[in-house]
Amino acid sequence: MPMITVPLGERTYPIHIGSGLLDCLGTHVVEALGEISVAVVTDDNVAPLYLARAEKSLEAAGLRVCTITLPHGEQTKCLDQLANLYAFLCENRLTRKDAVIALGGGVIGDLTGLAAATFLRGVHFIQVPTTLLAQVDSSVGGKVAVDLPQGKNLVGAFYQPEFVLVDPDTLTTLTDEYWRDGLGEVVKYGCIGDADLFALLEGCAPGGRAALMARIDDILLHCIQAKADVVAQDEKDTGLRMTLNFGHTIAHAVETCQHYEGLRHGEAVALGMHVMTRLTEQKGMTAPGTAARLDALLHQLDMPMELPGLSEEDVISAMFMDKKYSGKVLRVIVLNEIGKCFIHPTDVSFFHGMMK
Ligand code: NAD
Ligand code: GLY
Repeated sequence: MPMITVPLGERTYPIHIGSGLLDCLGTHVVEALGEISVAVVTDDNVAPLYLARAEKSLEAAGLRVCTITLPHGEQTKCLDQLANLYAFLCENRLTRKDAVIALGGGVIGDLTGLAAATFLRGVHFIQVPTTLLAQVDSSVGGKVAVDLPQGKNLVGAFYQPEFVLVDPDTLTTLTDEYWRDGLGEVVKYGCIGDADLFALLEGCAPGGRAALMARIDDILLHCIQAKADVVAQDEKDTGLRMTLNFGHTIAHAVETCQHYEGLRHGEAVALGMHVMTRLTEQKGMTAPGTAARLDALLHQLDMPMELPGLSEEDVISAMFMDKKYSGKVLRVIVLNEIGKCFIHPTDVSFFHGMMK
């Protein structure tokens, strides 16, 4: 089974990737932490699909298991559900040698990770991501958080897991909308640092989801290795990790303008990458032909490239109000060409004409 390592000194951890690995969860926990108690946190879409298999594997390995199933959706990533988790962990008498396991998408991973980081000042944390987005992005790198009414991810921590277990078979049950959500991030990795991945996606995209699933192990390996490399060099997000935000500045602004009720996140990222690359190619910062190549792939993946109903002015003002923007300079990620990028400081004038 392929394994990728996130090298972070004392907190170095493995990411196990392979079809059917969910049935080996118990063995991996015992190998990493011995015969402890584990609390599995999941949501009500994932529980009927995968919870019984996870429990069976954990119990077969001799672990004491308790489980909690939360409602699915972003609204679960909140302080009330965090308090709910603390109560559950108390009732089940988890100690600092025990572990909390997140079985689900990015919502369950982020919430459970924050509970693990803070309960008893930190218990062991294991990620078992079941969406494409969580497998290629949110389960790796230790960002854990909940949302506040004032905004997304406003309370959080950097808290690395003991290990991540990625079973690509779980992706077969994802709806098309969540599959496409994850694909936006997959294309991003190809754009910012991995021309081979981009070419692999170009080869599969005409065959749709089935063709991409036929190469999913390779696709996951490329993406997870890219994320692990960036996190290893910039765990606390002070420089290089910012490159993972390619397309995201425009995406977040669009999502804000649409009150999170329009494009899905992955679609907004695709749109952001398209708008940004067309703009920077016009400015002579990106190699000619890059935007056309990106657009062709996004088109084949059925990603949106038009933004009906929002003015350029709305999107620009939302961009410059983002919480990550301080002062007058906004740093954005620009492609030199497919597979290479750099961080570029901009001001408002940079974006004029971007929607034309
Ligand atoms: P999600 O967790 O809401 O999962 C999407 C939907 O798919 C849910 O309805 C879920 O119940 C369902 N689902 C999960 N696995 C399934 C499966 N195998 N089969 C069928 N249905 C399944 O959302 P997401 O897209 O995985 O993650 C989004 C969250 O991740 C956001 O809160 C975002 O802020 C966060 N995020 C975090 C990071 C990070 O670095 N921590 C990075 C990117 C995104
Ligand atoms: N999803 C961006 C990061 O992990 O930094």
